[in-house]
Amino acid sequence: MKANIVTLPGDGIGPEIVTSAVNILKEIAKIYNHDFSFEEHLIGGAAIDATGNPLPKQTLLACQKADAVLLGAVGGPKWAHLSNVRPEQGLLALRKALNLFANIRPIHTYDALLSLSSLKEEKIKGVDFIFVRELTGGAYFGKKTRTEKTATDETLYTVEEIERVSRKAFELAHTRRKHLTSVDKANVLETSRLWRETISQVAQDYPDVKLEHQLVDSMAMMLLINPAHYDVIVTENLFGDILTDECAALSGSLGLLPSASLGKESIGLYEPIHGSAPDIAGKNIANPIGTILSVSLLLQYSLGLVNEAIQIEKAVNLLTQHGPLTADLGGNAYTTEITKAVINNLHR
Ligand code: NAD
Ligand code: IPM
Ligand code: MN
Repeated sequence: MKANIVTLPGDGIGPEIVTSAVNILKEIAKIYNHDFSFEEHLIGGAAIDATGNPLPKQTLLACQKADAVLLGAVGGPKWAHLSNVRPEQGLLALRKALNLFANIRPIHTYDALLSLSSLKEEKIKGVDFIFVRELTGGAYFGKKTRTEKTATDETLYTVEEIERVSRKAFELAHTRRKHLTSVDKANVLETSRLWRETISQVAQDYPDVKLEHQLVDSMAMMLLINPAHYDVIVTENLFGDILTDECAALSGSLGLLPSASLGKESIGLYEPIHGSAPDIAGKNIANPIGTILSVSLLLQYSLGLVNEAIQIEKAVNLLTQHGPLTADLGGNAYTTEITKAVINNLHR
């Protein structure tokens, strides 16, 4: 298969982890006889430095023409003082421009890494659920105001926005254990009441999926005390951002978690859920697994290469069993050593 993949390394550890994941894609292309071409573009702080714009026109145009987009991370202390232009705006603008309203974040634990979690092994063994985070609405994209002494971030959701992301979640649940948890704050927020009404309506089209509602504050606790209960979880943009980082406590490191951002069109954006990790950038010690697994999602969702996607998951599983591991997982391996080990595992 021929595919044109745009890479957006971005800032901090972004270039290191994207290089690793691209090497995995190149190996997959070699083994399975695919013709993948790669085109690298600027985003985030690196783009601000070069052009003044966190999402240069050229980058957006390339993404719109690509078969899939692979992103590292954006942001860092170098740009934190800027008030009018921020690296993070580049990523948000890209998600919006590509209409990527559903952010899929799979969370599962690895038997070989159970002891790394601060939670009890018997609680997290076998945990396997998927977050569907709404990605182009809510407080992130509402009207913002600022005076010297006040600030507002409007949270706006339309029925249409809630419906389309709900359908994605129901469809996913339908292919799995048929259990969907919708997370909101309907006891306080009007947007959450609309969310709950709308998803309850959509539920009528999916009679085989069991829908339950959970308030976000208690959900934050439930995820830690009974994570095995969940199958698919759908929630608004901000709640999904926060709860998925919390889930890193289940799998053992934020560096393990991948994501796929999808819309109605076939173009998808793939990125680990973590950030640019400025504290470890440039040292060749970042964990590339979240990005490598994002490439697995890319192969599955954008290119339909399900077997290749599974082979990457298997190679990562072997890595968790036999090492080597990066420092966040208690090891001392370099990023580049992980890349090599995953490539070796692809041949086992
Ligand atoms: P972060 O996710 O960058 O880092 C949090 C902690 O996790 C740090 O200790 C870091 O070293 C560690 N960590 C993260 N990824 C790791 C990896 N792959 N391997 C090993 N350790 C890893 O979050 P933060 O420090 O709150 O944010 C730093 C910057 O990243 C901010 O500018 C933020 O806006 C940005 N950010 C970007 C994205 C993105 O581009 N998608 C996501 C989240 C945060
Ligand atoms: C993420 C990040 C982004 C978000 C930031 C960098 C805009 O935290 O992808 O989870 O909040 O969506
Ligand atoms: Mn986040």
